[in-house]
Amino acid sequence: MKKENDLDRLIEKAKEARKKAYASYSNFLVGAAVIGGSGKIFTGCNIENSSFGLTICAERVALFKAVSEGEKEVKILALVTDTQTPVWPCGACRQVLAEFDRELLIVSSNLKGQKEEKKLSEIFPEAFDKRSMKK
Ligand code: THU
Repeated sequence: MKKENDLDRLIEKAKEARKKAYASYSNFLVGAAVIGGSGKIFTGCNIENSSFGLTICAERVALFKAVSEGEKEVKILALVTDTQTPVWPCGACRQVLAEFDRELLIVSSNLKGQKEEKKLSEIFPEAFDKRSMKK
């Protein structure tokens, strides 16, 4: 399958997942989807909590679903938000994503269909990871 088709399909999955967001505090609905090493797609949405700090972002939900289902790597992350321009994962998600692939391809889209691609390393350079701990 062509890469562009992969990206569009993943964006569609993230768009669907966004509708499931539990975001009654911020009303900011986020959808995410990742392709695992096996080619399988895992989706996520943000899930908020009345104890605000316990909220989890859509990206981490999708990633944790993939890993907990046995995926050892992630290939692409798609993100969908209703924003002026495409947005990029928060700092916490960048750190968690970097654990699995510092060069992860991220495609972010808004509901107007604007679409941008970046590598995780562009938005999160000099990541601290398992290699950083070598003595
Ligand atoms: N959120 C995400 O799900 N992903 C991001 O990249 C940024 C923020 C969620 C967390 C919270 O539920 C809402 O968006 C507002 O911050």
